[in-house]
Amino acid sequence: MLIDNHGRTINYLRLAVTDNCNLRCQYCMPEEGVQFAHKKELLSWDELWLLSQTFVAMGVDKIRITGGEPFVRKGLMDFLEKLSGLEGLEEISITTNATLIGPHILHLKQLGITKINISFDSLDKARFNEITRRDQYDTVMANIQRMMEEGFDVKLNCVIMDGKNTEDIIPFVKYVQDHPISVRFLEEMPFNGQTSEPVSLKWDYIAILEHIKEHFGPIQKLPAPASSTSLNYQREGSKGTFGVIPSYSRTFCGTCNRVRVTAKGEMQTCLYSTETIDLRALLRESNHINGLKFSIFTAMQARHKDGFEAENQSETKKSMTLIGG
Ligand code: GTP
Ligand code: 5AD
Ligand code: SF4
Repeated sequence: MLIDNHGRTINYLRLAVTDNCNLRCQYCMPEEGVQFAHKKELLSWDELWLLSQTFVAMGVDKIRITGGEPFVRKGLMDFLEKLSGLEGLEEISITTNATLIGPHILHLKQLGITKINISFDSLDKARFNEITRRDQYDTVMANIQRMMEEGFDVKLNCVIMDGKNTEDIIPFVKYVQDHPISVRFLEEMPFNGQTSEPVSLKWDYIAILEHIKEHFGPIQKLPAPASSTSLNYQREGSKGTFGVIPSYSRTFCGTCNRVRVTAKGEMQTCLYSTETIDLRALLRESNHINGLKFSIFTAMQARHKDGFEAENQSETKKSMTLIGG
């Protein structure tokens, strides 16, 4: 078991396999993109495999594949096939924009990889295309539909931005009334690759919930694991559920069970960390496994209870595509 200096068990690895993406979501990066890594800078599939084995040997039992957009990298399905046979790993999940997943849906199902979180910020085509700066609404909708039909556990991530998609909150809650999936409204975080100003959060999770209650009346809270990032709710008679993720308010840091590795192999002990640990260098050195384990273990003993409070965030201009979400 991997336990940090605050007694939190770390069993969940968020592993980014690329920093590249075929969309340009406004809250994630500027129109022109960001400085993406060169191929040599990325961890190779073999290195990602070794890293996964190491984390699982240390106590991780859940890996979420993130990006960028994971499906833009060739070889992902071969990697997932291998990962799905890794003993000790109980759950593999993916966070994706669902533009490229179509041809892989059945294969994923065969591998038992059915927990898919999808960035989907509007049910309205024009708004969706404006937010993502690309024209992929129909493809994404069709893929969501197919995954629902195939019985996937789909969660839609909707980042709420004042003046851009707040009109979508009520339609989304209505949408999950008739569809067996979950939608989670995310507070916007200052990771759009451009501004270093903290986001002024008019739509924090409390405002989002109030807005929903004003429209629908009282709502029923659902039980959730302590480490869950989301507060989840369900309306009576509804097939699906909805929730809020206080990613900027950070109500869940006290039970944080996760560690992140970026596509370049930088380990982050918190989403908000400005300091990272270079696992790629360790992977590329000889006698690396012991060094790797030691570095991972040591970093876990120096975790902040709340990384945002501990870091000087004013100097960062990070983009979510480089962190992995
Ligand atoms: P599951 O609980 O496995 O469904 O995954 P998840 O909600 O952790 O994963 P997902 O990739 O869908 O992440 C959704 C969002 O949760 C992220 O973009 C962040 O906004 C937020 N989030 C996840 N982990 C953290 C964290 O450690 N700190 C903060 N502040 N926000 C986080
Ligand atoms: N603030 C909040 N959430 C963000 N995401 C990407 N950038 C931001 C941001 N600046 C979310 C996307 C994706 C998840 C991993 O991160 O919704 O689904
Ligand atoms: Fe791509 Fe996800 Fe960033 Fe959107 S939020 S640009 S889909 S990495």
